[in-house]
Amino acid sequence: MTAREWLQKAKKEKFAIGAFNVGNLETFKAIVLASANKKSPIIIETSPGETDWLGEDNIVDLAKNYSQDYGVPILVNLDHAGSLAECILAIEAGFDLIHFDGSKLPLEENIKIAKEVVELAHQKGILVEGEMDHIAGSSEIHQGSAETAIKNIPMTDPENAAQFVTETGINILAVFVGNAHGIFSEGGENLDLDRLQNIARTTNCYLSLHGGSGVPEDQVKEAIKYGIVKVNINTEMRQAFKKELTEVLANNPDEIAMYKLEQPVVESIQKVVEIKIEEFGSGGKIYG
Ligand code: 13P
Repeated sequence: MTAREWLQKAKKEKFAIGAFNVGNLETFKAIVLASANKKSPIIIETSPGETDWLGEDNIVDLAKNYSQDYGVPILVNLDHAGSLAECILAIEAGFDLIHFDGSKLPLEENIKIAKEVVELAHQKGILVEGEMDHIAGSSEIHQGSAETAIKNIPMTDPENAAQFVTETGINILAVFVGNAHGIFSEGGENLDLDRLQNIARTTNCYLSLHGGSGVPEDQVKEAIKYGIVKVNINTEMRQAFKKELTEVLANNPDEIAMYKLEQPVVESIQKVVEIKIEEFGSGGKIYG
């Protein structure tokens, strides 16, 4: 099934597909194992930094190989690309989805580049995600409360969003409704679900929820009911990776075989992904 067909199915059946960031092979493997175990479609995604680290062609080839080996559908997404050039590299490499993030650019420039990305991507059947209102935070552990951190950052306005979607022709809109990137030491990540409901009413496209780490489970589930079909997760996997690796290294001072040291790390990340798959309702969806 294509990305378009998967998103259509998710919208109709009210589940979301997890878009999980990969920064190394172990994370890739953990996500695929979780997908196979839960019989869930998955989106593998890489930010510009992660893409540079792994290489566009390697990411696409790994997805193809793992998909065949484990019999699971894997879509590949470029996450938060900041330029047309980055998008073109991923389009040429065969990504299934491209997220052009022009939210830090003046609106007119954001729209102009998003349109160019749409034109190029659509020729190859690739879907494009756009971002108008900058989604606060970054995929790390932040001190303090999310509420305080984002209180002056404007959230997505339903009418402006509708206009942005129409003008650019994007397929997916990355909304900002309180969903900051990262985990906050004092919590406080709360979604403005009324706003999300209004965005779903005014816009004629798929909606994605970035900053999935740290958002309370009940709110994520509500957001999916209101039309979110893609939820992005990075920080919670990064946190599991660091914690487990630190422990494994401390407990096995004489072990030097990487794959032995990495086994428990993969298992830890896999657990995080499996919990998210349950939360998003995408388990079992491979079979209909
Ligand atoms: P988190 O790091 O909060 O999970 O967000 C990831 C994300 O939105 C990537 O685009």
